[in-house]
Amino acid sequence: MLKATFYGHSCVYFTDGQYSIIVDPFLNDNPQATVKAEDVDVDYILATHGHGDHLGDAVEISKRTNATIIAPNELALWVVQKGALAHNMHIGGGYNFEFGRVKLTIAHHGSAAGDSGLEYTGNPCGFVFDMGGKTVYYTGDTGLFLDMKLIGEINEIDLMFLPIGDNFTMGIDDAVRAVEFVKPKVVVPMHYGTWEVIAADPEEFKKKLDGSGVRVEILEPNKSLEL
Ligand code: NI
Ligand code: MN
Repeated sequence: MLKATFYGHSCVYFTDGQYSIIVDPFLNDNPQATVKAEDVDVDYILATHGHGDHLGDAVEISKRTNATIIAPNELALWVVQKGALAHNMHIGGGYNFEFGRVKLTIAHHGSAAGDSGLEYTGNPCGFVFDMGGKTVYYTGDTGLFLDMKLIGEINEIDLMFLPIGDNFTMGIDDAVRAVEFVKPKVVVPMHYGTWEVIAADPEEFKKKLDGSGVRVEILEPNKSLEL
């Protein structure tokens, strides 16, 4: 069993009933989130990149709960400097955690953190991970890339999370193409509507995937999906 709960923007909480993880825990400053950082109790935090709308409250949550932040090496080093716990990884590498295997994928984007938003935190990533007998591909912030075909060939993806908001990431048409490349059983759009600049209609995304055989689940904040 795998339960995924969307907290708004790109923040997703996953549990298999025994372990729990949160991906890109942008909560306290997230206009879509009603869950706050202080409400989160997880075993691991997965962070795709250093941008404030992704790394979010990861350091605070790690310090309070002793959750380990799984992140690309440079970002992991940065959060440790801030007092968090981290497991350093890098793109192409996988590791078997108690809850399942996590592998880092490429993401075409940037990564920096800190008050200036300009402190170097290496390359951004996406995650392919196993939990509760299911395989999840969380793309992170990225543009479309052809290697997504390979990710879909290598893994049978049960659940995919990908951005549709355009401007900073792929928009709807490229996201539709990404889903066709990966062929997940279920896809959930994210990274849209948080601010005007990334306004997008998830129903348009869903409609464009009609007949593709992929189930599109549009999750409102705090809504869950169980596989
Ligand atoms: Ni970003
Ligand atoms: Mn973002």
